[in-house]
Amino acid sequence: MAQSSPKKESKPNWRHYDFTTTGPVDDYLYSMLPKRDEVLAEMEGYASEHNVPIVGPAVARVLQQLALMINARTVFELGSAIGYSTIWWAQAVGEKGRVIYTDGDPKNTERARRYFDRAGVANRITLHTGDALEFLSEQKQLYDIIFNDVDKEDYPRVLRLVSPRLRKGGLFITDNVLWSGRVAEKNPKEPRTRAILEFNRLLYSSNDFYTTILPIRDGLAVALKK
Ligand SMILES: C[S@@+](CC[C@H](N)C(=O)[O-])C[C@H]1O[C@@H](n2cnc3c(N)ncnc32)[C@H](O)[C@@H]1O
Repeated sequence: MAQSSPKKESKPNWRHYDFTTTGPVDDYLYSMLPKRDEVLAEMEGYASEHNVPIVGPAVARVLQQLALMINARTVFELGSAIGYSTIWWAQAVGEKGRVIYTDGDPKNTERARRYFDRAGVANRITLHTGDALEFLSEQKQLYDIIFNDVDKEDYPRVLRLVSPRLRKGGLFITDNVLWSGRVAEKNPKEPRTRAILEFNRLLYSSNDFYTTILPIRDGLAVALKK
């Protein structure tokens, strides 16, 4: 099993220690990341202090890279919290792009709005407070990317909504699909673990998508719409 990394207390909470990569290798991966700008760095600090479950910079960089690779201009995000991943999307889509932020908690929306202003990307982001699945189901346009980071029990339901709202060649991306390794348990009882297992099975077997799971941090599913 993995070697242990230095004391967790001194490290941010959005890391996933000794899980898919060993502590020292994981430290190396994070040490390679370029310094973030002031607002993103502040958000990382806030998330760590207040236990806000953000994707963190290693996954955020993958998200931004994927958006740049397909020249994405529109992103619908389900579960945005304080808007950390939203800012990485907004930077990727460019000045004419649009990112839909969704979160059920109005306090998150207000905090996110302030960060978006300070990061200079507010004019690229539409904020929606309320149920992300309901809002997605109302969408008439096709998106380049749909990013799923809501409550895990809802993952199978999200999958059913996504395909008709994603363009061919677009990406459906989902965080936490390895669920800190719990997906490998025998006969898991925990509802969130079971929902993620069902989601992964349905996603891999879907004729609409070509899927891989990147074992970075807590597992990122990347599904290409055929
Ligand atoms: C893991 S956090 C999102 C983190 C964000 N994607 C990031 O990396 O910066 C999940 C967020 O989704 C929100 N959420 C969960 N289920 C939701 C739903 N059905 N509709 C809207 N928001 C939801 C929660 O309030 C929480 O803030």
